[in-house]
Amino acid sequence: MSSGLIPEHIIEAVLKHHDIVDVIGKYVHLSKLGRNMKGLCPFHSEKSPSFNVNPEKQMFKCFGCGKGGNVIRFIQEIEGYTFGEAMRHLAEEANIAFAWEQQSPEQAERQQEKEQIVGGHELAAKLYHHFLYNYAEGKPALDYLHSRGFTDTLIDTFQIGFAPPRWDTLAQLLEKRGFPLPLMEKGALVTARSSGGGYVDKFRNRVMFPIRDARGSVIAFAGRTLGNEQPKYLNSPETSLFRKSRVLYNLHTARAEIKRTNQIVVFEGYADVIKAWSAGVHNAVATMGTALTEEHALLMRRSAERVVLCYDGDDAGQSAAYKSLGLLEKAGLDIKVAVLPNKLDADDYVETFGADRFRNEIIEGAVPREKFRLLHLRRNFNMQDNEAKLRYVRTAIREVIAGIESPTGREHYLKELASEFSAISSFETMKQETNEIREQEQKKRGNGDNNDISWNTVRNDGTDSQPLPKLKPAYDKAERHLLYVMLHDKEVTALVQERLGDAFNDEAHAALAAYLYAFYAQGFEPDASRYMASLQDDRLERLASSILMTESDQGINDQVIEDYLRQIHKYRELQAIERLTEERIAREKSGDIIGAARIELEILALKGKLQKR
Ligand code: CTP
Ligand code: MN
Repeated sequence: MSSGLIPEHIIEAVLKHHDIVDVIGKYVHLSKLGRNMKGLCPFHSEKSPSFNVNPEKQMFKCFGCGKGGNVIRFIQEIEGYTFGEAMRHLAEEANIAFAWEQQSPEQAERQQEKEQIVGGHELAAKLYHHFLYNYAEGKPALDYLHSRGFTDTLIDTFQIGFAPPRWDTLAQLLEKRGFPLPLMEKGALVTARSSGGGYVDKFRNRVMFPIRDARGSVIAFAGRTLGNEQPKYLNSPETSLFRKSRVLYNLHTARAEIKRTNQIVVFEGYADVIKAWSAGVHNAVATMGTALTEEHALLMRRSAERVVLCYDGDDAGQSAAYKSLGLLEKAGLDIKVAVLPNKLDADDYVETFGADRFRNEIIEGAVPREKFRLLHLRRNFNMQDNEAKLRYVRTAIREVIAGIESPTGREHYLKELASEFSAISSFETMKQETNEIREQEQKKRGNGDNNDISWNTVRNDGTDSQPLPKLKPAYDKAERHLLYVMLHDKEVTALVQERLGDAFNDEAHAALAAYLYAFYAQGFEPDASRYMASLQDDRLERLASSILMTESDQGINDQVIEDYLRQIHKYRELQAIERLTEERIAREKSGDIIGAARIELEILALKGKLQKR
């Protein structure tokens, strides 16, 4: 049994230290369901939770996509790590020395470069923050921040700073602390001078907002001018560490509250997040001044089921929110939109109307996505004009209401529309129009060709064209159940090893058994999670976790085990009889009567054996 170069005791220590519920809980919102925890699977899109975590067994399993395993496997899957990388990650978090790896020299170098670039950023953040408070040159920046309503507590919480208006303050400090400047240029903290050699700071005379990755390390900066110079914000360019399409500002700090509320509030700007925080909204993040991406949406969906978009109240902000809806829906998020009035952004709103109104009216008053779609659509119609009103009603039905899946939902919005536009059309007419559009759409889509994600079979409407699951042969249950018991019981395993050995009918079951014999032979006590780490084959790990999560030890006794062994042998022998019978017939046909008779004897012997079972 090989675990690569990683010593057994380290694997053991890592598994012992990390509780799978805590680790997965950082990525997935889990709620308790009996002995298990349940949530939306982070590995495929789904609308109802089929992702299970079992604290007792320290296993996870998704019954939608089949992924499953122990905590190491989870980190491998979610971070895209190899076994070794996942181990390193978990060991690091547990403060367990992890110097086992024989990295290739290139890998080691890349790893070291990354660490140094992060180190450079952490140092820069400290320098900028320190400079803001302790240098005369920082005073205008501090005054500016105070004038915008950023208190010292906020400034400290978000480690806001100031990049001095000199050429090379940071470059000098980095050099003094042993950070190679060419590498710091790669990390976008300094720039090589075009002439005369040496390096200058990338950010000068700007208010600095550190940007952290999901683990809390500073990986980039946003620098704002104190006045109206352009560009208003200078962001770090994309580097090996900083990918705008994957980073959400403040995600690390907001994570606990996101989990608690199962909700994430998304803003367009850094200042909005910080002001929202001061107003008591602690589950807030922002994009990097770019549009929301699919990666962002999946990242969010890993930690919450609900999202509130709180984009600027101007046309650009509202259109951006509108455009993000599809992508967020696709990720399976439940969406609301908090609409800010008078072209304000969240920061302006908090400054003008205060924290309470912001929380109670804007965030709490966020409207469901359909309502927002209707409001947004409305902007294009002149509501003074009757003809425009009629066009609005028809567009609203076609573009929004007819597309709502739930009949109650459709009814609700139709009623609202009908009551507002009673002078134009009646509820009945509107309903009829809705139904006609739906029928046309259904015809267009043809039978069964819907874009629903096939994992969740909750919407089974009879047109479902999914293939029937293959019927499992009877031995399958026996083998799985037996393996389940073996995973928890050394003695049963010894018995099975003696009586069955590798004679499981399913090859993968035979492999799991072989690994288990080896595991116990090494002196391990039953420990499913530890055993899984010895497999290091995701197909086998999946199977093992499926067995662990679906089987139980209910109704197990010696008699049942005997029955299982019998069933498993029996299937094997039946297969053999079938094979031999075919051969006998073939020999008879070819005139080999003696051969056929010999085979018949074999068959009879097998049948006799079967009867004794
Ligand atoms: N942005 C940017 N570069 C710019 C302008 C904006 O990267 N030149 C990004 C920033 O992430 C900014 C967001 O877009 O936070 C929203 O821009 P905007 O609404 O113009 O700025 P505010 O967040 O309102 O910033 P402030 O309140 O400081 O003016
Ligand atoms: Mn603003």
